[in-house]
Amino acid sequence: MAGSGGHTPLPALEPWLADRCESTPVEWLLDPDVAYLNHGSFGACPVPVFEEYQRLQRELEREPTNFLARRLTEWFWDTGGRPGLLADAQAALAAFVGARAADLVLAPNATSGLNAVIRSLRLGPKDEVLTTAHEYGGLLRTWEFVRANLVLCEPDALVDRIGPSTRAVFVSHITSPTALVLPVEEICAGAREAGVLSIVDGAHAPGQVELDLDELGADVYAGSCHKWLCAPKGTGFLWTRPEHQSWIEPVVISWGYHGEADFAERHGWLGTRDPAAYLAVPKAIEVHATFDLDACRALADDAERRLAGLGLPRIPGVPAPFMRAIELPPGDAAELWRRLYDEFRVEVPVSERDGRRILRFSIGPYNDEDDVDRLVTALRQLL
Ligand SMILES: Cc1ncc(COP(=O)(O)O)c(C=O)c1O
Repeated sequence: MAGSGGHTPLPALEPWLADRCESTPVEWLLDPDVAYLNHGSFGACPVPVFEEYQRLQRELEREPTNFLARRLTEWFWDTGGRPGLLADAQAALAAFVGARAADLVLAPNATSGLNAVIRSLRLGPKDEVLTTAHEYGGLLRTWEFVRANLVLCEPDALVDRIGPSTRAVFVSHITSPTALVLPVEEICAGAREAGVLSIVDGAHAPGQVELDLDELGADVYAGSCHKWLCAPKGTGFLWTRPEHQSWIEPVVISWGYHGEADFAERHGWLGTRDPAAYLAVPKAIEVHATFDLDACRALADDAERRLAGLGLPRIPGVPAPFMRAIELPPGDAAELWRRLYDEFRVEVPVSERDGRRILRFSIGPYNDEDDVDRLVTALRQLL
């Protein structure tokens, strides 16, 4: 693992990636003995962001009441006309994802934001929710919890399946098991035309693809910042169009839940907790702008090509820029996952899906060719 470099930029990159080829090496806290190829599950946080996070925690501990009750928000005491630190962080994140600050609230992760939405829907027994076979298991449990009638569709066929019983569509922007970018703009446009709510799970999107939530066309969108934006763990957001803000209940009811409260206040106070991770999000945005994303994508393409050369093809579809899912020959997924780590110190998830064994590798800004070499060597020996 080292700074990225040595890759020839590939043509036809999205302009957003192509514009950002300047690399400023940044330090990470990762164990140098491990080829960490699982940024998609648990992203790493760079040193300057982690230091900002800890600085904020220390500031809080010096004066807990001043920090939490005066400086954080204007809800408890008069902040002297200033919106408070939380609103500043929210505004920075909103600008990064192309949203109005008033439509976005920080949340501990995409799961929490989507739980607020799914559990507020109050589905009737005949209501259908259209989704795909590529969704994240943890959120399928949330839909099960509300006894949703989920209908699995191929992403390209989902809009045509919308009918009179369809209450909502639920799709990932970038899928978890298959690492594909789904056509969310078209799906949301189709849902809107049919008068159906569109809910997008964007856990993998912020920092991996450029976002313009005001233009995307979704009704509701939730994302995680601790994955590809490399913010501290426990950072994500929930965004909705203004017309949905009144019916989406917070996951925790506390002081912010009262008659005059706006979206930010109702979702903003979940009881006493450490807000330092949220407040470090602007620093994560700043550091993310220094990453050589072009090199990450080129390394992911290179790794994909090398694995294809071993007879291990990528799952077909539009691939995520920095994360790829590869189909392996049938076998024990858990055993391979264990051996990759125990014998080769390669941290990469292997899972089973519909009887198929899938390996999903992620390329973070800290990965280099040595990490890919180690993965390729390990798979050559183990398979
Ligand atoms: C598509 C998708 N949605 C949601 C999640 C959950 O993310 P978080 O734990 O940050 O809420 C994941 C995690 O990998 C995911 O892949």
